[in-house]
Amino acid sequence: QLTGLTTIIVLGASGDLAKKKTYPALFGLYRNGLLPEGTTIIGYARSSLSLQEFHSRLLDFAKLPNDQIKGQFMEFLKHCTYISGQYDKDEDYRRLNKAVEEAELTGEDGNKNRVFYMALPPSVFIPVAHGIKKNLYSAKGINRLIVEKPFGMDLESSRKLGRALAPLWKEEEVCLPFVPEKGITYRIDHYLGKEMVKNLLIIRFANVFFGAIWNRQSISNVQITFKEKIGTEGRGGYFDEFGIIRDVMQNHLLQILSIVAMERPLSLNSEDVRDEKVRVLRCIPPVKMDDVILGQYTKSEDGTKPGYLDDKTVPPGSNCPTFAAATLWINNERWEGVPFILKCGKALNEQKTEIRVQFQNVPGNVFKNAPRNELVIRVQPGEAVYMKMTNKLPGLSMDTVISELDLTYHRRFSELNIPDAYEALILDVLKGDHSNFVRNDELDAAWKVFTPILHQIDNEKINPVPYAYGTRGPEKLDEFVASYGFKRASEE
Ligand code: BG6
Repeated sequence: QLTGLTTIIVLGASGDLAKKKTYPALFGLYRNGLLPEGTTIIGYARSSLSLQEFHSRLLDFAKLPNDQIKGQFMEFLKHCTYISGQYDKDEDYRRLNKAVEEAELTGEDGNKNRVFYMALPPSVFIPVAHGIKKNLYSAKGINRLIVEKPFGMDLESSRKLGRALAPLWKEEEVCLPFVPEKGITYRIDHYLGKEMVKNLLIIRFANVFFGAIWNRQSISNVQITFKEKIGTEGRGGYFDEFGIIRDVMQNHLLQILSIVAMERPLSLNSEDVRDEKVRVLRCIPPVKMDDVILGQYTKSEDGTKPGYLDDKTVPPGSNCPTFAAATLWINNERWEGVPFILKCGKALNEQKTEIRVQFQNVPGNVFKNAPRNELVIRVQPGEAVYMKMTNKLPGLSMDTVISELDLTYHRRFSELNIPDAYEALILDVLKGDHSNFVRNDELDAAWKVFTPILHQIDNEKINPVPYAYGTRGPEKLDEFVASYGFKRASEE
């Protein structure tokens, strides 16, 4: 935990991410008494806004269900100031530094820690990292830097970014002897802060029965699905440069996969956990085009929702995929031959992220209807863990029925609050816990899986297949998934 006084500097404070995620998460921590005593939050961005204008932007977006919480939010705003300036001007950073020093005057003598949160487009990561290094490093405390994705476009650009940041911000969790001018980087993948993703380690390694069946002998296939109902609405400019594989699959879904598939870590120490994640990622060969489907959404069937290419921020004729399904293979003793099917898309029929582990058929089955068992971990919305199992249909027959061992959170843990992913991750940064952040070699291994196919898609201008806004995705999806042995329970 940080000792002394802490200032949080949000770079890109007037942007969407800061408004929708960073500030609400900081407020959540404040409200629960989890920000260090005396913390000041200084927003910095190019937009020239008065403090009042800045506060009203935050207020407009905050979801404040009652007067008591509204009162707390108004108190929180008293700790939030705003400075406008450019990302490449030393004099602007010096003004920001002055504001930080003034905030630090309020504290007693002791450490003056600074947490820099880059809620910024990648084009300014490097100039900002330099600007901070030159003008804003605290010589009297701990410096921590939080960076948001995208971490490059492919393996090479990601390494380039890493090399540019490395002399300024290092990765190690503990730096002894303490070198104040070497700050520490936290690379955020916010899916790692989600309650059910954090639960994966516990489900897998704290339950003896899962330990015994978590392998190719018992598991037929694993599906990891991310579905959103909304299209790119207004974010077409950013999205079109990256596409769904870079936006969601290479990071969020592959991170989930690595925890589903990793070996038991030596301990919960962040390096031990991340060592195992890297090890399993390195067993995944690059994805092949034969194992991929790409889609792009068109107008909805009733014509009320626009197609991707109707978005004014999208370049005409773009072949950027808004949907992708890809099957990954893990060449190790535990998983050889088990398909891991990742699916993600925008403008689909529902919003849902889940992990579905489908077990093998029951060997020597004597019942007419005993479909495969399935473990489902619902990440969002409506967090749940349930196991589909075959049960006797109550009554005088020996008929079977598929039922569920059901741990739906809103029923089981209704009195407990599920923290937002960003809240959990910012708290980790304050505590100096790296476990749920992406390490350099992990990022490298993740890019190696997807870089060849991303280049192939770009170079060969591979066209995605169309699917209508609000549907389940490309028509051939079910066939694709079935070709890897996935069976719907009702089909058996
Ligand atoms: C972001 C992607 O990383 O995650 C977005 O850039 C996506 O395209 C978002 O919508 C999903 O996050 P969440 O937490 O809303 O599921």
